[in-house]
Amino acid sequence: MKHNNFYITTPIYYPSGQPHMGHAYSSILADVFARFMRNDNYKVHFLTGTDEHGLKIQRAAEKAGLDPLIFCNKISKIFNDLTKKLNLSNDDFIRTTEKRHYRSVNDLWSRLVKSGDIYLSKYKGWYSVSDEAYYNENEIIEKNGKKVSTFSGSSVEWVEEESFFFKLSAWEKKLLDFYNKNDKFILPISRRNEVINFVKSGLKDLSVSRTSFTWGIKVPNNNKHVIYVWLDALTNYLSALNFPNTNDSLYKNFWPASLHVIGKDILRFHAIYWPAFLLAADIKPPNRVFGHGWILSGDEKMSKSKGNILNPLEIINTYGIDELRYYLMKEVSHGSDGNISLKGLENCINSDLANNYGNLCQRVFSFVKNNCKNKINKTNDISNSDKKLIDKTKLLTSNLRNEMNNQNLNNYIKSVINICFLTNKYINDEEPWKLKNTDIKKMNNILHLALEQIAKISIFFDPIIPNATTKVLDALNVKSQIRNLSFLDGNNIFNNEIKINDIEILFKKITQ
Ligand code: MSP
Repeated sequence: MKHNNFYITTPIYYPSGQPHMGHAYSSILADVFARFMRNDNYKVHFLTGTDEHGLKIQRAAEKAGLDPLIFCNKISKIFNDLTKKLNLSNDDFIRTTEKRHYRSVNDLWSRLVKSGDIYLSKYKGWYSVSDEAYYNENEIIEKNGKKVSTFSGSSVEWVEEESFFFKLSAWEKKLLDFYNKNDKFILPISRRNEVINFVKSGLKDLSVSRTSFTWGIKVPNNNKHVIYVWLDALTNYLSALNFPNTNDSLYKNFWPASLHVIGKDILRFHAIYWPAFLLAADIKPPNRVFGHGWILSGDEKMSKSKGNILNPLEIINTYGIDELRYYLMKEVSHGSDGNISLKGLENCINSDLANNYGNLCQRVFSFVKNNCKNKINKTNDISNSDKKLIDKTKLLTSNLRNEMNNQNLNNYIKSVINICFLTNKYINDEEPWKLKNTDIKKMNNILHLALEQIAKISIFFDPIIPNATTKVLDALNVKSQIRNLSFLDGNNIFNNEIKINDIEILFKKITQ
C-alpha cells in the first residue's frame, strides 16, 4: 500500500429508489476505514456518489413519469442527504451525469480503442436490468415460469443487438498473474478464491455498449451506441481525481485507489472487469477490493425488489446515528452475510454502548466531578493492578492497526470493547470511592489511569461512533492535534494534570 495517502471509495449507488440499510452499511463501513486512516495520520480522499445511467434508471424514470435527468437530480439528492444523516466524512460526492465524468469515460474508451481491445459485433444473450449484468446460459434457471439468474435471483431478458465488445478473454492469463502477484488485491480470502475460480473457468469477451436505449454516455463518434453502464460507472473512481488530467494533484496523490469497499454482489465487476479495463488502458489497477457480505432480513438479501427493507432514517430517528453505526459494524461479520433486527440493535446498544463504554465514561466523570473538582494529578507510583491493566491494554492494541489495514473490523471492535470491560473491572476491583478518606494519592492515580484509558478507547472508537467520542474527548480537553493514533507508538495521551468538563449521558439504555 502507498504511504501517507489513502484513496477509499464506496460503490456509487443506483438512484432508482429510496436508500436502504444495505446502502447504509456499505457507506458506513467505508467511512469507518476512512476515519481510521485519517486518525492514523494518512491524507485521505473518500468518495461516494450516484450511478445514474443505464436501462434500470431509464425505466425507473419512465415509471415515475420523469425525464431521466430530472429523476436522477431528485433521487441523487436523497442519497447525498443520506451521507449527512449517516455522518459520513466523504470528501466528494460524484454523479455520473457530471461533465467531469463524461470527459473521463470518453478518454478511457478511446484508450481501449487505441490499444485494440474493443471491436464491433453483435450481442445475443441474457441480460438482467436489475443487476445491469450479462449472464451466460449456464447461469440461468427457470423459476415460477420466469428466467432468473442463479447468481442473484434477478429476472433476465433476452437481448440481441449490435454491440461493441471488450476483449476480456485476452486478459484471462494476465488477470491471474495480477492476482498472484497481488495476493491481497481481493479480500476476504474466500472472495479472492471465488474470483480466481471464475476467471480460471474461462472469460468471454464482454459487451460494452448498448443500442436499444439511449440513457447513457454515447460511444465517442458513434451516436447509435451508449457505453455499458458498468464501464461508465466504474470509471467514476478515476473521474473524481480529474482523470484524464494525470498531472492533476488529486490524480497524482491518490491513484491507484487504496481500497474499493463493495458488496459481494458486485465483486465480478470490480475484481475482474475493472482491473482488465485498467490494465488494457495502461492505468494501474487499485490496490484492494474488499467485498463485504449482505445484510439479510429473515434469510433474504435486503433490497427494494424484495420489499424487506429496514429504513435507516427511521432507525436513526428512534435510536441515534452512533447507535446504528456501531450495531451494523459490530453485528454484521464483514466477510459473510449478517441478519439484523431491532431486538439485536437494542441488545447491542444496552450491552456495549450503554452498559460498557457509556457507563465507564459516566461513572469516572461523575466521580471526578463530585470528589476531585474536575481535576486530577498523579504521582509516579504504579501499582500491580495498574501495571496489569496497562500491559493487557497494550497486548489488545498491538494488532489493531493490522486488523484495520486488513479490514478485520470485527476483531478490532472486539478488542476495543474488551479494553472497556477490563477498565470497568479495574475500577470495580480498585474501589477508588473507598480511598477518599484514606489514600487520596492512590485514588487520584486510579482515576488518572481510568481517564487515560477512556481517552485511548475513545480514539479507537472514534471512526465508529464519532459523535459520542467527540463529546468525551472534548470533555477530557484532549487537543485536536493529539486526537490520533500516535499514542500507539508508546506515548500517553496525558502528561500529568487532567482537567475535565461535565459530560451529558452518552447512550440511553433501552428499556421495554
Ligand atoms: N451502482 C452499482 C455500483 C456501481 S460502483 C461502480 C450498485 N449500486 S446499488 O445501489 O445497487 O448497491 C450499492 C452497494 O450497496 C453495493 O455494494 C451493494 O452490495 C450494497 N448493498 C445493496 N444491498 C445490500 C444488502 N442488503 N446488504 C449489504 N449491502 C448491499 O450496485
